[in-house]
Amino acid sequence: MGVLNRKELLAKLNFFYSLELQQVDLYTAQSKQMDDIYLSRALARIAVIEQQHVDNIAAEIRKRDAEPTRLGEVVAPVMGLAAGALTGVLGPKAVLKAGIILEGQAMKDYKDFIVRVGEPDLFDLLWSNLIDEDLHTAWFTNKLKDLEHCH
Ligand SMILES: [Fe+2]
Ligand SMILES: [Fe+2]
Repeated sequence: MGVLNRKELLAKLNFFYSLELQQVDLYTAQSKQMDDIYLSRALARIAVIEQQHVDNIAAEIRKRDAEPTRLGEVVAPVMGLAAGALTGVLGPKAVLKAGIILEGQAMKDYKDFIVRVGEPDLFDLLWSNLIDEDLHTAWFTNKLKDLEHCH
């Protein structure tokens, strides 16, 4: 443990670049599948915020003279769920649960990363992304609670 060297930092940034792309893919695909207009609009809006995360992480990678590289599906526990979600077989509750898993993993990984970053700018950026993920989790959790009460 301790502060990451350049190579470790780039590996971490590419992991987050991939994780954020996975979020964009899931929410964009699911937004189009939802009959619930509010859920559809919320997913579309959250996908825009995830794309901002993709872009801000990509900028950090390029700042270090490297190219962002997608590592594939980096969040294993959600892979099956996300694959189902991308082909449109999930209902709204399963979509929200997949989102909660994905966001929870992202938050955990951001927290682990933050404590190992020495640069103030990157430190602030990771905190911003982390808080966005927390807000997404809160919204998903709240919406899931509503759906479970209504249906
Ligand atoms: Fe994100
Ligand atoms: Fe998120």
